[in-house]
Amino acid sequence: MTKKQRPSKSGTLASRADRHVLYQIAVQDPEPEINFVQRVFKRARGRAAVSFKEDFCATAHLATAWVKGHRARTAVGVDLDEEVLAWGREHVLAVESPNVRERVSLVQANVLDVVSPKVDVVGAFNFSYLVFKKRTELVAYFKKAHASLNRDGLFYCDLFGGTDAIVPIVEPRRCRTGFTYVWEHESYNPITNEILCHIHFQFRDGSELRKAFTYDWRLWTIPEVRECLLEAGFKDTQVWWDPVDEEDYRVTEKEANQLGWLVYIVGVK
Ligand SMILES: C[S@@+](CC[C@H](N)C(=O)[O-])C[C@H]1O[C@@H](n2cnc3c(N)ncnc32)[C@H](O)[C@@H]1O
Repeated sequence: MTKKQRPSKSGTLASRADRHVLYQIAVQDPEPEINFVQRVFKRARGRAAVSFKEDFCATAHLATAWVKGHRARTAVGVDLDEEVLAWGREHVLAVESPNVRERVSLVQANVLDVVSPKVDVVGAFNFSYLVFKKRTELVAYFKKAHASLNRDGLFYCDLFGGTDAIVPIVEPRRCRTGFTYVWEHESYNPITNEILCHIHFQFRDGSELRKAFTYDWRLWTIPEVRECLLEAGFKDTQVWWDPVDEEDYRVTEKEANQLGWLVYIVGVK
């Protein structure tokens, strides 16, 4: 066989890419998220949070970073999908020291079925709880989160919105390792508030990983999430707003609407 006849070893950049690696680079940033969780917890409870449950944990990137941040910390990650958990065990946890590995447990389950062990913090990040489209389901989930918390525990979730959130949009962003992350709202139904979103990845050679991730969600509003948290048994809720022009999220009760906004919503047990 001549060199010319040899099949290409390489293929396109898209065919060689791993969607979980790209997601971690483009979407996740555990350190500021953990700093925020601790800042709010300290302010509310006067101590640092130690135990963390990452609901919808996928590859457990955040749960692992949590544990790495302090030797006393523990984490439980819960996800329905065995494939992503296996990826996390192999690529995220296996590269850590035994001391880190033994403080993270991963559970393949529905978040509606896991209420132990009790923890200081339950987190549902990157909007994952929007999979619950009925009010009864959302309240049922928040009740489980409430039951999973220690007596002074806090629940954290995030939410996006604004005028651009409810129109079809394709938003590309260049990432540092040379690929482009594309966030797409394919459709929004104003009758149900259902929104269909995708993540695509584009590469320098023109190749693309289309629909690397797809999210079929209900875009709940901030007051709906707060009301459901209270209905589920939380004593209080806080909204922390991402001020684009300032350093850090701030707790607030009034803001002007924007093209796009991002908040954390905290449930206080
Ligand atoms: C948006 S991704 C997770 C993102 C990750 N938490 C982050 O911060 O980037 C959503 C994950 O939720 C999982 N999932 C969806 N419904 C679930 C459920 N009812 N219980 C547990 N996991 C669920 C999916 O398997 C998927 O891995």
